[in-house]
Order: sequence, then structure tokens, then C-alpha cells
Amino acid sequence: MLGFAFPYPALADIDNGAKIFTNNCSSCHLGGGNILIANKTLSKEALSQYLDNYNTDSIEAIIHQVKNGKGAMPAFKNKLSEQEILEVTAYVFQKAEQGWQENS
Ligand code: HEC
Repeated sequence: MLGFAFPYPALADIDNGAKIFTNNCSSCHLGGGNILIANKTLSKEALSQYLDNYNTDSIEAIIHQVKNGKGAMPAFKNKLSEQEILEVTAYVFQKAEQGWQENS
């Protein structure tokens, strides 16, 4: 992972991403978990294993999942703006990299 650069540093507001996550995602993904499908969490390991294309383009893979949903997860493309989807994606990616510590 050395040398990997986050592709949208100027666009993504992580603090706002955290608020969007609390309001739209944490009902199912509290603390980066998954209350519906226990193994499909938002941990780096689970994303790497279960989310299509996460290993080739992590950001695009999360954006795609948030926009379109999958299975029991609703689509957010009509609920969140492109900017909001980018911000919440940046938040999820950062937390996955950090290991979803609770004290933040
Ligand atoms: C109603 C519950 C629900 C809500 C709300 C929800 N999700 Fe999900 N999410 C799921 C379920 C269920 C899956 C597993 C889908 C599958 O693969 O069948 C999932 C999977 C994911 C994954 C892939 C995880 C993996 O290990 O494969 C990501 C990333 C994700 N959600 C992000 C989000 C984000 C960001 C939000 C808020 C914008 C959100 N989700 C809101 C239920 C939800």
C-alpha cells in the first residue's frame, strides 16, 4: 500500500462524510459493521474480500456500491448528491484503512 495516493484529496471533506455516514449508513453499518450480513463489514479485509473491484480501485468500488446498492442495501444515488457520495466514500475508505477505531 506504500505509494498509494488518495485520488480526491481536495474534493473530499471527511468531517462531512462522517455526518453523512451517521445519518445514512450507521443504522446498518454502525462502527463499520453490518447488522444484516455479518461478514460483509466495512473493514479493509471484508471490503477486499467481498466488494467487487475494491482491490483495483477502492474509491470507485465504494462509490459504485453507495450509488447502486446491492442486495439488502438500498441505492443512494437519488438520496445523496455526487459530492455527498464522494465525502461518505472518503470517510469509509479512511476508516477502513485506520481500522474503524471507536474513539474518533
Ligand atoms: C438497510 C441497511 C443498509 C444501509 C442503510 C447501508 N448499507 Fe451498506 N450494506 C448493507 C448490506 C446488506 C450489504 C451487503 C450487500 C451484499 O453484498 O449483499 C452492504 C454492503 C456495503 C458495502 C460493501 C461491504 C462488503 O464487505 O462487501 C459498503 C462499502 C457499504 N455497504 C457502504 C454503505 C454506505 C457508505 C452506506 C451509507 C451511504 C450504506 N452502506 C448504507 C446494508 C446497508
